[in-house]
Amino acid sequence: MNVIEAILARRSVREYEARPVEREKFRALLEAGMAGPSGMNTRPWAFVVIDDPARLDELRARLNKPSTAPAAIVVCGQPVDDAGQRYWALDCAAATENILLAAVELGLGTCWIAVHPKPDAIAATREVLGLPADVNPLCVINVGYPAEQKEPRTQYDDSRVHWQGW
Ligand SMILES: Cc1cc2nc3c(=O)[nH]c(=O)nc-3n(C[C@H](O)[C@H](O)[C@H](O)COP(=O)(O)O)c2cc1C
Repeated sequence: MNVIEAILARRSVREYEARPVEREKFRALLEAGMAGPSGMNTRPWAFVVIDDPARLDELRARLNKPSTAPAAIVVCGQPVDDAGQRYWALDCAAATENILLAAVELGLGTCWIAVHPKPDAIAATREVLGLPADVNPLCVINVGYPAEQKEPRTQYDDSRVHWQGW
């Protein structure tokens, strides 16, 4: 599968098999995330991987976001300089998309669950995961083997495209 095929095949998966995700697949996902672009290349990201069912249940209950996915990656920003302060959410969004695309290649399904910029979800995620004060959760990525098939699709819309100016 080439990268454009993977982009079109990536869909939000909301039904998962119970089978666990192998540790080496987490490594490949995280490597893809950390290969993303970041402002001034400050890479202000940190990741909390959760495959403990009790911890997953606790986080999902607090976020009111139930899921059958057997694992999740919480993408966080930990800025250490001005560029990181300014761009951490953008940098972490780029890392998140890289993870979603790598998952397609690995046969895994994913779904981006919003945390940032919702104050209650941020506070709940901080509390359940024990995040330090300088660590900002961007999102939860549910991860697992899909139990539903969604067709690849394009959402190309010519009316959104302007050439040489609006
Ligand atoms: C910033 C952001 C927040 C999202 N939050 C949620 C969420 O909380 N729950 C959920 O089920 N899907 C969430 N999604 C997934 C979107 O609903 C999904 O991407 C959209 O419906 C398009 O479907 P597709 O991903 O299959 O292309 C989120 C996606 C983004 C980019």
